[in-house]
Amino acid sequence: MSKNILIIGGNSGIGKALIEKLSSENHNLFVASRNPDPNPSHGIHTQSIDVTAEGEISLNDLPEKLDGLVYCPGSINLKPFNRLSQQDFQNDLNINFFGLVKVLHHTIPNLRKSGNASVVAFSTVAVNTGMPFHASVASAKAAVEGLMRSLASEYAPVVRFNIIAPSLTDTPLAEGLLGSERKREAAEDRHPLKKVGHPGQLAATAAFLLSEEGSWISGQTFHIDGGMSNLK
Ligand SMILES: NC(=O)c1ccc[n+]([C@@H]2O[C@H](COP(=O)([O-])OP(=O)(O)OC[C@H]3O[C@@H](n4cnc5c(N)ncnc54)[C@H](OP(=O)(O)O)[C@@H]3O)[C@@H](O)[C@H]2O)c1
Repeated sequence: MSKNILIIGGNSGIGKALIEKLSSENHNLFVASRNPDPNPSHGIHTQSIDVTAEGEISLNDLPEKLDGLVYCPGSINLKPFNRLSQQDFQNDLNINFFGLVKVLHHTIPNLRKSGNASVVAFSTVAVNTGMPFHASVASAKAAVEGLMRSLASEYAPVVRFNIIAPSLTDTPLAEGLLGSERKREAAEDRHPLKKVGHPGQLAATAAFLLSEEGSWISGQTFHIDGGMSNLK
């Protein structure tokens, strides 16, 4: 069945891989980010928004009924705690957490009209597994997890909310951590499965959570992380 799905941040990384997957399934896709594709494929509607801009978010021409929302904007700002300023914490909260709050305030009426909508947001492996230099991003993503689980309870059974918590995945966001052969090998070696993530692997989980097959799941966190969070 064709669904109306809104993806915030779909021209890079995991969001881009998700759009490639969903387009082949003939869904109506609404994609918004700061620099959207000016020539989208058939069935993809793009618009420009910055989730960190002051004030409420305005999303144009959304369908009255939304069956899915995937929120992709995020950050990797790794520094020792004594070099993390309050502004660093605020910036990480703005893009990861407050942007999601704003998008949800704007779209909840459309999601409720679906009767069986699915919301997916991204956390990080560093929320459940303490990692040095992750204090700011882990705090912001912990806020995302708290928000999503609360809303999963508040809006059941009409809207489902689930979280995907990746470890290091090969996207433009992670370029600074994977930008040389030496860094990539060290990153792969840190994971029990001896690989970093591929955006398609995360996109596949998001697509599953949007689908009918995933429709008995809400309030969960999916740890897609090469074994990082649970294995030694
Ligand atoms: N990659 C990893 O290693 C990793 C690890 C753990 C968690 N995650 C999480 O997974 C999610 C997806 O990450 P990714 O690696 O796919 O990131 P990415 O490659 O940076 O893609 C992020 C997307 O969000 C959009 N975006 C960024 N800032 C925005 C803003 N202010 N307003 C509107 N749109 C914005 C970008 O498009 P524009 O540039 O056009 O705005 C882009 O399409 C993030 O939440 C991230 O925190 C990733």
